[in-house]
Amino acid sequence: MSLATESILKALADNAAGSFGDAKSLPPPIYHDSPILQLEIDRLFRKDWICIGRLAEMPNPGDYICRNIVDSPVFVVRQKDRTVNAFANVCVHRAAQLLAGEGHVSRISCPYHSWTYELDGQLIGAPFMNETSGFDVGDYRLKRLACDTWEGFVYVSLDPQPAPVAPALAELTALVGNYRMGDYVPVFEQTETWDTNWKCLVENFMDSYHIHRVHKDSFGKYGHYEDLTQLFPGGDAFSYHFVQETEERKSFHAHPDNSWLTGDNRDRTYLVNIFPAHVIQLQPDLLWYLSILPDGVDKVSIRWGVSIPAEILDSAQDRQDVIDEEMALIHRVNSEDRPIVENVFQATRSPDAVQGPLSRLERNLWDFGRYLARNLCS
Ligand code: FES
Ligand SMILES: [Fe+2]
Repeated sequence: MSLATESILKALADNAAGSFGDAKSLPPPIYHDSPILQLEIDRLFRKDWICIGRLAEMPNPGDYICRNIVDSPVFVVRQKDRTVNAFANVCVHRAAQLLAGEGHVSRISCPYHSWTYELDGQLIGAPFMNETSGFDVGDYRLKRLACDTWEGFVYVSLDPQPAPVAPALAELTALVGNYRMGDYVPVFEQTETWDTNWKCLVENFMDSYHIHRVHKDSFGKYGHYEDLTQLFPGGDAFSYHFVQETEERKSFHAHPDNSWLTGDNRDRTYLVNIFPAHVIQLQPDLLWYLSILPDGVDKVSIRWGVSIPAEILDSAQDRQDVIDEEMALIHRVNSEDRPIVENVFQATRSPDAVQGPLSRLERNLWDFGRYLARNLCS
């Protein structure tokens, strides 16, 4: 390991070992160092659970979603028994990528030489291979990957035997389970690439300090959120904070037809980072999530989606109006975040970039740094 990489890891560990009162931002070269990215790939992205999308985005047998977990193309596909399986998106003939993007198939047919697989990964057809002695389609199937679900999200792990998702997120389930976000109805999803390091985007999503400036005309337009924002120490698997609204303020509230969400949660917005890079904004009237994956040190692949509770859509005079209004806001917020997240990535390249002190509202950035230190520094 180079001296430069060692000094990044030392700064990361030192910052994590202190108290939050002394916390600083991550060492700027951590966003640009290739050996650090390789460590992150080996110890985070090839080990931890990676969010692929939502069950409700793939409701029918044959519906699939693809992602590249760094060098490993994978897909999840709804089975005939309605469970969801994950596979390496790599043909067992000569390794062509089988599926792209997202969509629906009744069988999986390789675009190169037409080897055909059942939805459960079993090879069932291979043209002209009867002329190859000893070949039997029954001997071949796609590589199955670990797949799990939580609150309507689908996760894949490249680790052959990962611990299940739900126990690791039990504390989070206790906090947000009664939102029933698994029942929210997907109204939008998209995959895009931004010119930044993946950590800049995770940090930005969990940063409640920039709202008053960057989002002063969107999320911040209802007034000052800083006093309503409560932050908590992060755990092993996730960090979070919430914005507790009051009855009088008219922004994010549970619909009157929603009888199951109780107490303060009816007026509360949770911001959650499930490590490493699944982030969620959960409100009584909206779910916005990002699944973030590195594509080199300087690019990030983002699959993001928005869902709205059924009771809101069902009681709307015009369903599409509700969707259009929410999406206009989210697109606006994204267009406000993107330039600053790309800006920070560029400027952290400078030898003049330093580790600055964190505000109270950046508590979850420190939690994220401690997660990185736990996993990268030992
Ligand atoms: S690579 Fe898939 S059939 Fe040849
Ligand atoms: Fe933002």
